[in-house]
Amino acid sequence: METKILKVASIFENPDELQQAADILAQGGLVAFPTETVYGLGANGLNEDAVRAIYRAKGRPSDNPLILHICDMEMLPQLAREVPSAAVRLALEFWPGPLTMVLPKTSQVPDAVSGGLDTVAIRFPGNLIARELIRRCGKPVAAPSANLSGSPSPTTAQHCIDDLMGRVDAIVDGGICGVGLESTVISLAGEVPTVLRPGGITVEQLRKVLGDVQVDPAVTHPMAEGQKAASPGMKYKHYAPKARVILVDGNQADFAGYVNERKADGVFALCFSEDIAALEVPAVCYGGEKRPGEQAHALFDALRRLDDQNAQLVFAHCPNQDGLGLAVYNRLLRAAAFDVVRL
Ligand code: TXA
Ligand code: MG
Repeated sequence: METKILKVASIFENPDELQQAADILAQGGLVAFPTETVYGLGANGLNEDAVRAIYRAKGRPSDNPLILHICDMEMLPQLAREVPSAAVRLALEFWPGPLTMVLPKTSQVPDAVSGGLDTVAIRFPGNLIARELIRRCGKPVAAPSANLSGSPSPTTAQHCIDDLMGRVDAIVDGGICGVGLESTVISLAGEVPTVLRPGGITVEQLRKVLGDVQVDPAVTHPMAEGQKAASPGMKYKHYAPKARVILVDGNQADFAGYVNERKADGVFALCFSEDIAALEVPAVCYGGEKRPGEQAHALFDALRRLDDQNAQLVFAHCPNQDGLGLAVYNRLLRAAAFDVVRL
């Protein structure tokens, strides 16, 4: 299939390109587009066949449900059977933005979107290009991250091109994603609001609005054999470059010592800017040690660069887990398949 690249500098400068992308979506096609978190691979979320095509293009397991993206609150009642007051409070505070809410679904939501669950994940993105695309399409847009299943999520149009060229109808190039990690997913379908995936909105921010908020154990711990995942996405190894990744938890000197002792062909460090000077192996930096925003923004690109440089074994310096750091830690844990060395 031929993949169109549509450059959209802004919704004001390139309305025609945006309209082309929206028309493709409305006709049942697949379009990768920017959001403030990562690029999404969109399809008309109410068209079952279009949604199934997403799974094929990504090579995604069909039991891993998708997020429906909306561009105004009026789209919500046709998708969510119930909107509890907690959801309203979160929407007022954090929408549009990097927060996804899991709510009981209506019968209008195709099974292909919800992976057979009784709930649906909904997000109102902040990125203007994303919102205008949804508005012009006129339907909620189902969109997982626009990467091949298993590889790091895309934060630039080039990442989408690398993964999906020839597999989708169009890629909207709208620049680099701001946050760089996927949205926070919170379930409001159970007794206590529960974070299923940490992201751009921190647990602390959620607690300020809701009070009691749980964090699902699978955010920081591997799931036991046979355990049922609250969020099916959590059971898959994710975000991984081709290299084996080992997460190393320790201070700067210990990290450098540990890595330098293991210096060999194909061994790389994924580290903070402060680490570089002391390292004797090639290093890819993912931000400052005390700057989780920078780390979030840089992480997925850094993982892809390790592949470009043919890394075989990567020692990643473990981030602090406060605030946005929890999301960075969660993605690195998965990239490392929970292989952590504590110094
Ligand atoms: O920032 C984001 O959320 C990006 C952009 C494109 O919006 N999208 C994204 O989608 O990260 P995806 O498919 O890569 O991740 C969606 C996550 C998966 O872990 C999935 O299992 C979970 O949300 N999820 C979706 N529907 C769910 C549901 N009904 N219940 C529990 N988890 C659900
Ligand atoms: Mg994903």
